[in-house]
Amino acid sequence: MSSLVGAAVVALVVFQVFRKSLKSGASSLDAIPSVGVPGGLFGFYVGAWNYIKNGRDLTEEGYLKNPGGAFKVAFMHRWLVIVNGQAMIEDLRKAPDDFLSSAEGNNAMLHLEHVLGYEQLHDPYHVPVVRTSLTRNIGICFPSLRTEVVAAFEDLVPAKTDEWITVHAMQTILPVVSRVSNQLFIGLPKCRDPDYIKITTQFALDVAKDALLLHLIPSSLRSLAARLFGHLETSTRNIMKHVGPMIQHRIEMDDKYGPDWPNGDRPNDLISWLLDEARGHPERRTVRNLTHTLLHLNFAAIHTTTQGFLHAFYTLASHPEYVQPLREEIESVTKSEGWTKAAMGKMVKLDSFMKESSRLAPGAAVGVMRKALKDFTFSDGTTVPAGTLIALPILAEHHSQANYTNGGAFDPFRFSRMREEAGEGIKHQMASLTHDFLTFGLGRHACPGRFFAVNEQKLIMAHVLVTYDFKLKDGVSAEDEWVWIVGSANKTAEIMFKKRS
Ligand code: HEM
Ligand SMILES: *[C@@H]1O[C@H](CO)[C@@H](O)[C@H](O)[C@H]1NC(C)=O
Ligand SMILES: *[C@@H]1O[C@H](CO)[C@@H](O)[C@H](O)[C@H]1NC(C)=O
Ligand SMILES: *[C@@H]1O[C@H](CO)[C@@H](O)[C@H](O)[C@H]1NC(C)=O
Repeated sequence: MSSLVGAAVVALVVFQVFRKSLKSGASSLDAIPSVGVPGGLFGFYVGAWNYIKNGRDLTEEGYLKNPGGAFKVAFMHRWLVIVNGQAMIEDLRKAPDDFLSSAEGNNAMLHLEHVLGYEQLHDPYHVPVVRTSLTRNIGICFPSLRTEVVAAFEDLVPAKTDEWITVHAMQTILPVVSRVSNQLFIGLPKCRDPDYIKITTQFALDVAKDALLLHLIPSSLRSLAARLFGHLETSTRNIMKHVGPMIQHRIEMDDKYGPDWPNGDRPNDLISWLLDEARGHPERRTVRNLTHTLLHLNFAAIHTTTQGFLHAFYTLASHPEYVQPLREEIESVTKSEGWTKAAMGKMVKLDSFMKESSRLAPGAAVGVMRKALKDFTFSDGTTVPAGTLIALPILAEHHSQANYTNGGAFDPFRFSRMREEAGEGIKHQMASLTHDFLTFGLGRHACPGRFFAVNEQKLIMAHVLVTYDFKLKDGVSAEDEWVWIVGSANKTAEIMFKKRS
C-alpha cells in the first residue's frame, strides 16, 4: 500500500515537473539574471536542488551581484523573481492588489484555501479585526496576559530554589506562547487546557506538511488530495470539541443581544471582536467558519512568535553581559508603570534587543511574497509577466551596509541609540514598518498582529529576566538551522534555569 502511494507521488512529481518545464520554456523572464542555475537540459532542476540546499546563501549572492535590481532563482518547480533596493521595494509596496497580490503570493506558498479553509482565503475579514479590535485591546487585556505568562512559567519552569533545572526550550516556549495568545483569543479556562494547547501548537506543523504535499500535486487534484490526506478536517473537529459549544453560545447571545449583554458580561476576546465584524454576514457567523478563523490565527501567531522569542533568548543566554542593562531597564520601568502595555512601550532597550535579534534572524531569507496578476513593470524598467512570483530578500536587506553600520554584527542597542536621536522615536521601534526592517512584511499587507507579537515577546522576555537566572546547556549556540528559505531557532536545545539569586 505505501509503495503504491510512493509510486503515485513519484508519478505526480514527474508529471508536474514536465508540465511546468513546458510552461517555463515560454517564459519571458529571460532578461532577468538567474542565480545558482547552471545551463543545460536539466539546469533548472539542478538549480532548484541547489536552492533547496543553499537558499540563504544563493539569495545573498544574488543580492550582492544585482544591487538595486532583480534576479531569479529556481524555486521548487517555478521561477521566483527577487527584487531589492529602496526603489524596487517601494514599487512593490505601492503596487495595487490587482497587479501584485499578497493573498495570491501567500496562497502560492501555502495553498491557503485547502489547508486553512475556503473562506479564509476568499473572505479574510479577520485581518482588519486583528489590525483594529485586537490591537486596540492589548492594553485593556494586559493584566490577564501578564497573569497567564506568570502562571505558564510556574507550570512549565518550576525553578523554585537555587538548584539549576533543565528544560527543553522549544517545547516550553511553544505552550507558553499558545497560552498567552489564546488568553487574548478565547480566555480562561480553555487557554490553559493541555489538549487544546497541543492542538493549537501542532496545527501549524500540519499546515506546513499539507502545503508541501499539495506543492507536488497538480492544481486540479489539490482539493481532493487535501480532503483525503490533509489535516484541516481533523484539527477542526478536534478543536470544535473544545470550543464548539462556547462559540455556539456566543453566536446565540450575539443574535439576541448584539454587543450589549445583560449585566455587561460579554467577554472581551477575539470571538466577540470577530462577531462584531461579522454582523450582517450570516456565513461568517457559523461555528465552523469561526473555528477555522481561530485555527488560522493560532497558525499565524504561535510559531512565528515562538521562533522570534527563542532566537532572542538563545542570543541573550549566550551574551550574559546584556542581562544587567536589560534588567535595570525592566525594573525601573515596572516600578513606575507596573506591568502594563505602557511599560512595554517604555522598555526601549528591550525593544531594541528583540528587534536586532529579529533583524539578523527574520525567520526566512525571502519574504513579502507577491504574485503578479497582470504584467508588471518596476520603476527601473524590469518587467515580469502575469503569473510571476515575486519576493524580497529580507535577510540580505537586513544586512544592507547602506542602512546598517557593521550590518552583519549583533549590536543589541543599535535601535535604542537611534531612538535617542531627536525626532526619530517611533520609526526605530520593533513594530514599525520600514524598508530596512522587513520581518513583519511591508505596506498594506504587513502583519496585522505585529503589535501584539512584540508586546507578547517583550512581556515574556521581561518576566524571564526578572524571575530567573538562565544559561544554555553545553554545545548549544544561538545559530539558526537553515533549510531552503527557512531559518529556525534550535529545535532540540535545552536551557537551564534557576530562581534568580
Ligand atoms: C513575531 C511574530 C510574527 C511575525 C514575524 C509575523 C510575520 C508576518 C508576516 C511576514 C506576514 C506577511 C506580510 C506580507 O506578506 O507582507 C504576516 C501576516 C499575517 N500575520 Fe503575522 N507575524 C507574527 C505574529 C502574528 C500574530 C501574533 C498574529 C495574530 C494575532 C499574526 C497575524 C497575521 C495575519 C492575520 C496575517 C495575514 C495578513 C494579510 O493577509 O493581510 N501574526 N505576519
Ligand atoms: C463559510 O463561509 C463561506 C464563504 O464565506 C460560505 O460559503 C460557507 O457556506 C460557510 N460555511 C459554513 C459551514 O458556515
Ligand atoms: C537606507 O539607506 C538608503 C541609502 O543610503 C537610504 O536612502 C534609505 O533612506 C535608508 N532606509 C531607511 C529605511 O532608512
Ligand atoms: C542545537 O542544539 C543541539 C543540542 O541540543 C546542538 O547539538 C546543536 O549543535 C545545536 N545546533 C546549532 C545550529 O547550534
